[in-house]
Amino acid sequence: MPSAFAPGKCILFGEHAVVFGHPAVAVAIEQGVRVSVQGSNEWLLEGQPFEPSKHPHISHIIQNIFQYNGQPLDIDVQSSLFSAAGMGSSAALSNAFGAAMHSHLNPSTPLDPIRLAKMAHSAEATAQKGRASPTDTATSALGGCVVVSGQHVTGTRHVFDTSLETPEGSRKWAINVVDLPADIDDAWLVVGYSGTGSPTGRMVAKVASLISESPQRMEEMETIANITRAGLTALSAGNLEGLGIAMDACHESLRKLEVSTNKLDRMVSSARPHSLGAKLTGAGGGGCMVALTQDPDRVSEAIEIAGGRPLKTKLGSQGVSIL
Ligand code: PMV
Repeated sequence: MPSAFAPGKCILFGEHAVVFGHPAVAVAIEQGVRVSVQGSNEWLLEGQPFEPSKHPHISHIIQNIFQYNGQPLDIDVQSSLFSAAGMGSSAALSNAFGAAMHSHLNPSTPLDPIRLAKMAHSAEATAQKGRASPTDTATSALGGCVVVSGQHVTGTRHVFDTSLETPEGSRKWAINVVDLPADIDDAWLVVGYSGTGSPTGRMVAKVASLISESPQRMEEMETIANITRAGLTALSAGNLEGLGIAMDACHESLRKLEVSTNKLDRMVSSARPHSLGAKLTGAGGGGCMVALTQDPDRVSEAIEIAGGRPLKTKLGSQGVSIL
Protein backbone atom coordinates (compact mmCIF):
# COMPACT_ATOMS: atom_id res chain seq x y z
CA MET A 1 0.00 0.00 0.00
CA PRO A 2 1.63 3.36 -0.98
CA SER A 3 2.55 5.24 2.16
CA ALA A 4 4.76 8.20 3.05
CA PHE A 5 6.07 9.96 6.14
CA ALA A 6 6.71 13.69 6.53
CA PRO A 7 8.28 15.26 9.64
CA GLY A 8 6.97 18.12 11.74
CA LYS A 9 9.12 21.16 12.48
CA CYS A 10 10.29 23.40 15.27
CA ILE A 11 11.17 27.08 14.72
CA LEU A 12 14.45 27.87 16.50
CA PHE A 13 14.63 31.56 15.57
CA GLY A 14 12.83 34.28 13.68
CA GLU A 15 9.12 33.65 14.21
CA HIS A 16 7.13 36.87 13.64
CA ALA A 17 10.23 38.68 12.29
CA VAL A 18 9.96 36.45 9.17
CA VAL A 19 6.60 38.06 8.43
CA PHE A 20 8.55 41.35 8.02
CA GLY A 21 11.12 39.80 5.63
CA HIS A 22 13.75 38.76 8.21
CA PRO A 23 15.12 35.20 8.31
CA ALA A 24 13.59 32.33 10.27
CA VAL A 25 15.40 29.11 11.15
CA ALA A 26 13.47 25.85 11.49
CA VAL A 27 14.55 22.24 11.97
CA ALA A 28 12.71 19.07 11.00
CA ILE A 29 11.99 16.84 14.00
CA GLU A 30 11.66 13.05 14.34
CA GLN A 31 7.89 13.07 14.88
CA GLY A 32 5.54 13.65 11.98
CA VAL A 33 2.63 12.36 9.92
CA ARG A 34 2.36 9.05 8.11
CA VAL A 35 -0.25 8.67 5.35
CA SER A 36 -1.18 5.62 3.31
CA VAL A 37 -3.65 5.40 0.43
CA GLN A 38 -5.27 2.46 -1.31
CA GLY A 39 -8.08 1.97 -3.80
CA SER A 40 -11.48 1.33 -2.22
CA ASN A 41 -15.14 1.19 -3.24
CA GLU A 42 -15.88 4.37 -1.23
CA TRP A 43 -13.96 7.49 -0.14
CA LEU A 44 -12.69 6.95 3.41
CA LEU A 45 -10.47 8.93 5.78
CA GLU A 46 -9.31 7.10 8.90
CA GLY A 47 -12.12 4.58 8.38
CA GLN A 48 -14.87 7.24 8.21
CA PRO A 49 -16.64 8.65 5.12
CA PHE A 50 -14.39 11.39 3.68
CA GLU A 51 -15.98 14.86 3.73
CA PRO A 52 -13.89 17.08 1.38
CA SER A 53 -15.00 20.42 2.89
CA LYS A 54 -13.70 19.39 6.34
CA HIS A 55 -10.23 18.52 5.01
CA PRO A 56 -9.12 21.38 2.74
CA HIS A 57 -5.46 20.30 2.48
CA ILE A 58 -6.35 16.80 1.31
CA SER A 59 -9.13 18.04 -1.00
CA HIS A 60 -6.83 20.62 -2.64
CA ILE A 61 -4.18 17.97 -3.35
CA ILE A 62 -6.73 15.51 -4.80
CA GLN A 63 -8.63 18.01 -6.93
CA ASN A 64 -6.27 20.83 -7.86
CA ILE A 65 -2.84 19.20 -7.79
CA PHE A 66 -3.45 15.66 -9.06
CA GLN A 67 -6.86 16.42 -10.68
CA TYR A 68 -7.72 12.90 -9.59
CA ASN A 69 -11.05 11.40 -10.56
CA GLY A 70 -10.19 7.73 -10.42
CA GLN A 71 -11.28 4.97 -8.06
CA PRO A 72 -12.25 6.17 -4.53
CA LEU A 73 -9.42 6.01 -1.99
CA ASP A 74 -9.13 4.77 1.56
CA ILE A 75 -6.77 7.29 3.25
CA ASP A 76 -5.14 6.43 6.56
CA VAL A 77 -3.42 9.17 8.65
CA GLN A 78 -1.29 8.65 11.75
CA SER A 79 0.26 11.67 13.47
CA SER A 80 2.76 11.84 16.34
CA LEU A 81 2.56 15.67 16.49
CA PHE A 82 0.47 17.96 18.70
CA SER A 83 -1.93 19.53 16.19
CA ALA A 84 -2.54 23.28 15.74
CA ALA A 85 0.37 23.86 18.15
CA GLY A 86 3.10 25.29 15.89
CA MET A 87 4.67 21.91 15.06
CA GLY A 88 3.74 22.00 11.38
CA SER A 89 1.18 19.19 11.51
CA SER A 90 -0.89 20.44 8.55
CA ALA A 91 2.28 20.90 6.44
CA ALA A 92 3.42 17.38 7.34
CA LEU A 93 -0.05 16.04 6.46
CA SER A 94 0.05 17.83 3.07
CA ASN A 95 3.55 16.57 2.29
CA ALA A 96 2.88 12.99 3.40
CA PHE A 97 -0.44 12.83 1.53
CA GLY A 98 1.09 14.40 -1.60
CA ALA A 99 3.97 11.91 -1.49
CA ALA A 100 1.64 8.94 -0.93
CA MET A 101 -0.54 10.07 -3.89
CA HIS A 102 2.56 10.48 -6.03
CA SER A 103 3.68 6.96 -5.15
CA HIS A 104 0.17 5.58 -5.81
CA LEU A 105 -0.18 7.25 -9.23
CA ASN A 106 3.46 7.35 -10.48
CA PRO A 107 5.23 4.52 -8.67
CA SER A 108 8.28 4.53 -10.95
CA THR A 109 8.94 8.32 -10.88
CA PRO A 110 11.23 9.57 -8.07
CA LEU A 111 9.72 12.07 -5.63
CA ASP A 112 10.88 15.68 -6.13
CA PRO A 113 10.89 17.31 -2.63
CA ILE A 114 10.97 20.87 -4.06
CA ARG A 115 7.85 20.25 -6.18
CA LEU A 116 6.25 18.64 -3.17
CA ALA A 117 7.13 21.62 -0.90
CA LYS A 118 5.53 24.04 -3.41
CA MET A 119 2.46 21.83 -3.73
CA ALA A 120 2.04 21.56 0.05
CA HIS A 121 2.53 25.36 0.38
CA SER A 122 -0.32 25.91 -2.08
CA ALA A 123 -2.49 23.50 -0.02
CA GLU A 124 -1.68 25.49 3.16
CA ALA A 125 -2.47 28.78 1.41
CA THR A 126 -5.81 27.44 0.14
CA ALA A 127 -6.72 26.22 3.62
CA GLN A 128 -5.64 29.51 5.31
CA LYS A 129 -7.46 32.09 3.15
CA GLY A 130 -4.43 32.78 0.96
CA ARG A 131 -1.94 33.51 3.76
CA ALA A 132 0.82 31.00 4.53
CA SER A 133 4.55 31.20 4.97
CA PRO A 134 6.49 28.36 3.27
CA THR A 135 8.48 27.62 6.48
CA ASP A 136 6.57 24.52 7.62
CA THR A 137 6.10 22.93 4.20
CA ALA A 138 9.72 23.52 3.07
CA THR A 139 11.18 22.20 6.35
CA SER A 140 8.97 19.11 6.28
CA ALA A 141 9.76 18.38 2.62
CA LEU A 142 13.52 19.03 2.69
CA GLY A 143 14.30 17.96 6.28
CA GLY A 144 17.42 19.11 8.16
CA CYS A 145 17.68 22.81 8.92
CA VAL A 146 15.90 25.35 6.71
CA VAL A 147 16.34 29.12 6.64
CA VAL A 148 13.44 31.05 5.13
CA SER A 149 14.04 34.68 4.26
CA GLY A 150 13.16 37.57 2.01
CA GLN A 151 16.67 37.28 0.58
CA HIS A 152 19.77 35.09 0.63
CA VAL A 153 21.28 34.58 4.11
CA THR A 154 25.08 34.38 4.50
CA GLY A 155 26.32 30.93 5.47
CA THR A 156 23.37 29.07 3.93
CA ARG A 157 22.90 27.16 0.66
CA HIS A 158 20.07 28.43 -1.55
CA VAL A 159 17.65 25.67 -2.67
CA PHE A 160 14.65 27.38 -4.29
CA ASP A 161 12.54 30.52 -4.39
CA THR A 162 8.82 30.55 -3.89
CA SER A 163 6.06 33.13 -4.04
CA LEU A 164 2.40 33.51 -3.16
CA GLU A 165 -0.36 35.94 -4.07
CA THR A 166 -1.88 36.89 -0.72
CA PRO A 167 -4.82 39.21 0.05
CA GLU A 168 -2.14 41.82 0.99
CA GLY A 169 -0.19 41.47 -2.27
CA SER A 170 2.46 39.17 -3.61
CA ARG A 171 5.09 37.69 -1.27
CA LYS A 172 8.43 36.12 -2.19
CA TRP A 173 10.73 33.91 -0.12
CA ALA A 174 14.14 32.31 -0.60
CA ILE A 175 14.42 28.80 0.86
CA ASN A 176 17.96 28.04 2.04
CA VAL A 177 19.46 25.13 3.96
CA VAL A 178 22.28 24.73 6.47
CA ASP A 179 24.20 21.47 6.91
CA LEU A 180 24.16 20.62 10.60
CA PRO A 181 27.52 19.58 12.10
CA ALA A 182 27.94 16.22 13.88
CA ASP A 183 28.25 17.96 17.32
CA ILE A 184 24.51 18.69 17.15
CA ASP A 185 23.89 14.97 17.81
CA ASP A 186 24.96 15.61 21.43
CA ALA A 187 21.82 17.68 22.04
CA TRP A 188 18.08 17.07 22.16
CA LEU A 189 15.15 19.35 21.73
CA VAL A 190 12.35 18.92 24.21
CA VAL A 191 9.15 20.49 22.92
CA GLY A 192 6.56 21.34 25.59
CA TYR A 193 2.91 21.66 24.61
CA SER A 194 1.03 24.21 26.72
CA GLY A 195 -2.29 22.41 26.23
CA THR A 196 -3.93 25.15 24.14
CA GLY A 197 -3.70 25.76 20.40
CA SER A 198 -1.56 28.46 18.84
CA PRO A 199 -3.74 30.93 16.89
CA THR A 200 -1.16 31.91 14.23
CA GLY A 201 -3.40 34.34 12.30
CA ARG A 202 -4.50 36.12 15.49
CA MET A 203 -0.94 36.44 16.82
CA VAL A 204 0.40 37.78 13.50
CA ALA A 205 -2.44 40.35 13.49
CA LYS A 206 -1.70 41.27 17.13
CA VAL A 207 1.97 41.97 16.34
CA ALA A 208 0.96 44.01 13.27
CA SER A 209 -1.36 46.21 15.34
CA LEU A 210 1.26 46.60 18.12
CA ILE A 211 3.70 47.91 15.51
CA SER A 212 1.19 50.23 13.86
CA GLU A 213 0.34 51.71 17.30
CA SER A 214 4.00 52.17 18.26
CA PRO A 215 6.29 51.97 15.21
CA GLN A 216 9.43 52.07 17.40
CA ARG A 217 8.54 48.44 18.30
CA MET A 218 9.85 47.58 14.84
CA GLU A 219 13.31 47.73 16.46
CA GLU A 220 12.45 44.45 18.19
CA MET A 221 12.27 42.81 14.74
CA GLU A 222 15.83 44.00 14.04
CA THR A 223 16.89 42.57 17.42
CA ILE A 224 15.29 39.21 16.54
CA ALA A 225 17.02 39.26 13.13
CA ASN A 226 20.41 39.84 14.84
CA ILE A 227 19.73 37.03 17.34
CA THR A 228 18.71 34.76 14.42
CA ARG A 229 21.99 35.43 12.59
CA ALA A 230 24.03 34.84 15.79
CA GLY A 231 22.06 31.66 16.55
CA LEU A 232 22.58 30.41 12.99
CA THR A 233 26.33 30.97 13.25
CA ALA A 234 26.41 29.01 16.54
CA LEU A 235 24.25 26.23 15.05
CA SER A 236 26.44 25.90 11.93
CA ALA A 237 29.57 25.67 14.11
CA GLY A 238 28.04 23.11 16.51
CA ASN A 239 28.40 25.66 19.34
CA LEU A 240 25.60 24.38 21.59
CA GLU A 241 26.18 26.94 24.38
CA GLY A 242 25.97 29.82 21.89
CA LEU A 243 22.86 28.31 20.33
CA GLY A 244 21.19 28.09 23.74
CA ILE A 245 22.10 31.68 24.68
CA ALA A 246 20.55 32.88 21.40
CA MET A 247 17.37 30.88 22.12
CA ASP A 248 17.06 32.52 25.56
CA ALA A 249 17.53 35.96 23.99
CA CYS A 250 14.93 35.21 21.30
CA HIS A 251 12.37 34.34 23.99
CA GLU A 252 12.93 37.72 25.68
CA SER A 253 12.29 39.54 22.39
CA LEU A 254 9.14 37.50 21.75
CA ARG A 255 7.95 38.38 25.27
CA LYS A 256 8.44 42.07 24.43
CA LEU A 257 6.25 41.53 21.36
CA GLU A 258 3.60 40.21 23.80
CA VAL A 259 3.21 36.83 22.09
CA SER A 260 4.20 34.71 25.09
CA THR A 261 1.76 33.58 27.80
CA ASN A 262 2.18 32.96 31.54
CA LYS A 263 2.03 29.22 30.92
CA LEU A 264 4.72 29.33 28.21
CA ASP A 265 6.91 31.54 30.45
CA ARG A 266 6.50 29.07 33.36
CA MET A 267 7.46 26.13 31.15
CA VAL A 268 10.49 28.02 29.76
CA SER A 269 11.63 28.98 33.32
CA SER A 270 11.27 25.46 34.66
CA ALA A 271 13.17 23.94 31.71
CA ARG A 272 16.09 26.42 31.89
CA PRO A 273 18.05 24.99 34.88
CA HIS A 274 18.62 21.76 32.90
CA SER A 275 18.84 23.36 29.43
CA LEU A 276 21.29 25.23 27.26
CA GLY A 277 18.45 27.53 26.23
CA ALA A 278 14.66 27.65 26.01
CA LYS A 279 12.04 29.74 24.21
CA LEU A 280 8.51 29.68 22.91
CA THR A 281 8.36 28.30 19.38
CA GLY A 282 5.98 29.33 16.59
CA ALA A 283 3.32 31.98 16.81
CA GLY A 284 2.82 31.93 20.61
CA GLY A 285 -0.42 32.77 22.41
CA GLY A 286 -0.50 29.04 23.32
CA GLY A 287 1.07 26.19 21.39
CA CYS A 288 4.57 25.11 22.35
CA MET A 289 7.93 26.06 23.87
CA VAL A 290 11.20 24.29 23.11
CA ALA A 291 14.35 23.65 25.15
CA LEU A 292 17.81 22.66 23.88
CA THR A 293 19.36 20.23 26.33
CA GLN A 294 21.77 17.40 27.01
CA ASP A 295 19.50 16.10 29.77
CA PRO A 296 16.17 15.51 28.00
CA ASP A 297 14.64 13.39 30.77
CA ARG A 298 15.08 16.08 33.44
CA VAL A 299 13.77 18.78 31.08
CA SER A 300 10.74 16.61 30.25
CA GLU A 301 10.05 16.23 34.00
CA ALA A 302 10.41 19.99 34.56
CA ILE A 303 7.97 20.71 31.71
CA GLU A 304 5.45 18.23 33.13
CA ILE A 305 5.74 19.83 36.59
CA ALA A 306 4.99 23.22 34.97
CA GLY A 307 1.83 21.67 33.49
CA GLY A 308 3.03 21.01 29.92
CA ARG A 309 3.22 17.88 27.78
CA PRO A 310 6.82 17.11 26.74
CA LEU A 311 8.05 15.52 23.53
CA LYS A 312 11.73 14.59 23.12
CA THR A 313 13.26 14.88 19.69
CA LYS A 314 16.48 15.42 17.72
CA LEU A 315 17.36 18.40 15.52
CA GLY A 316 17.30 18.09 11.75
CA SER A 317 15.59 14.79 10.89
CA GLN A 318 15.31 13.71 7.27
CA GLY A 319 12.56 15.18 5.10
CA VAL A 320 9.58 13.53 3.46
CA SER A 321 10.05 9.93 2.37
CA ILE A 322 8.07 7.23 0.63
CA LEU A 323 7.94 4.16 2.89
O1 PMV B 1 3.26 28.48 14.95
P1 PMV B 1 3.47 28.43 13.48
O2 PMV B 1 4.17 27.23 13.00
O3 PMV B 1 2.21 28.69 12.76
O4 PMV B 1 4.53 29.54 13.16
C1 PMV B 1 4.17 30.80 12.90
C2 PMV B 1 5.38 31.62 12.54
C3 PMV B 1 5.03 33.05 12.28
O5 PMV B 1 6.25 33.71 11.99
C4 PMV B 1 4.42 33.68 13.52
C5 PMV B 1 4.04 33.21 11.14
C6 PMV B 1 4.59 32.86 9.76
O6 PMV B 1 3.76 32.77 8.82
O7 PMV B 1 5.80 32.74 9.57
